[in-house]
Amino acid sequence: MSSQPTNRVFSGVQPSGQLHLGNYLGAIRNWVALQDGYECIYCLVDMHAITVWQEPAALKKATFEGAAALIAAGIDPETSILFNQSQVAAHAELAWIFSCVARIGWMDRMTQFKDKAGKNKQRASVGLYTYPALMAADILAYKATHVPVGEDQKQHLELTRDIAEKFNHDYDADIFPITEPLIQEEGARIMSLRDGTAKMSKSDPSDLSRINLTDDADTIARKIRKARTDAEDLPSEPAGLEGRAEARNLVDIMAALNGTSQEVVLRDFGGKGFADFKQSLSDVAVAKLSPITEKMAALAEDETYLQTVLDNGAERAAAIAAPVIAEVKALTGFVTPG
Ligand code: AMP
Ligand code: TRP
Repeated sequence: MSSQPTNRVFSGVQPSGQLHLGNYLGAIRNWVALQDGYECIYCLVDMHAITVWQEPAALKKATFEGAAALIAAGIDPETSILFNQSQVAAHAELAWIFSCVARIGWMDRMTQFKDKAGKNKQRASVGLYTYPALMAADILAYKATHVPVGEDQKQHLELTRDIAEKFNHDYDADIFPITEPLIQEEGARIMSLRDGTAKMSKSDPSDLSRINLTDDADTIARKIRKARTDAEDLPSEPAGLEGRAEARNLVDIMAALNGTSQEVVLRDFGGKGFADFKQSLSDVAVAKLSPITEKMAALAEDETYLQTVLDNGAERAAAIAAPVIAEVKALTGFVTPG
């Protein structure tokens, strides 16, 4: 039987555009921290990206850039495994089996599908609908025990647990772990700079809505200056952020960047206007992000290096997934090589 790890992390990010501050604060900075103490596997999920149309050349570029961003942010590709999903066939194989385990009713409850498909769901791809089965396969092909993500992925991780339990039950095997989500308190849900009720996202048509990890210092400062706010001063306690989505978002960003809390930020800035606060926020954002941006730009030049990292990561990932897939196929009753 394949072994049962106790401290294996898996997480993924879609190479469907530029990585932004939401990705960094909600997920990636935690991926970096987890390298101390966990065996980490990080994936550029290109197969998830094509659930909505991607220009082939742009997808390829975003995959290399994503790898550069993760390394620049502090993922060490020697100790952690860093690769792109489509290079390891286990993901697609297990996703098919899981799409036969998961029930249509389960998929129907997924809010991300409803958001992404919009009003005309008849025109959405079938892949967008079955997306969570592929995500469960990503995680369980490695029997990952912990999955660091932002708040928006919580429901998909609950589905992953349901799939693991149903597979274990149906095939009377104790093969898959019940995965723990790791969601940080501060930064788990960073909102658009233009609309405090919408998530900061790669697909927002307005570039002013997000801070990209490739933005230079001037661009970061300009976007923060233009960020939407209200007319009042900052409150001195978190309760005063009630009903002020934009103000709360900027306070959350400051807290997450500094590794503190809303309380601490408001102790310093309560009673001050947004002009002062935005100036300080942009200084902090530039100080934290510019070392990453610079390193990323240098790495992105070296496609040969990035290609080697991804190839090597895929080889190591495939070696971990192979015995799991073999065990799943045997349990399922497929005839396997004799
Ligand atoms: P995606 O860009 O959808 O592939 O997301 C990659 C990771 O970043 C996932 O763990 C998401 O939960 C996280 N993430 C994406 N957008 C945000 C956001 N606005 N705030 C916090 N985390 C986010
Ligand atoms: N669905 C995730 C997102 O859009 C990305 C993802 C794909 C993922 N597979 C994963 C995250 C496995 C964690 C684990 O953000």
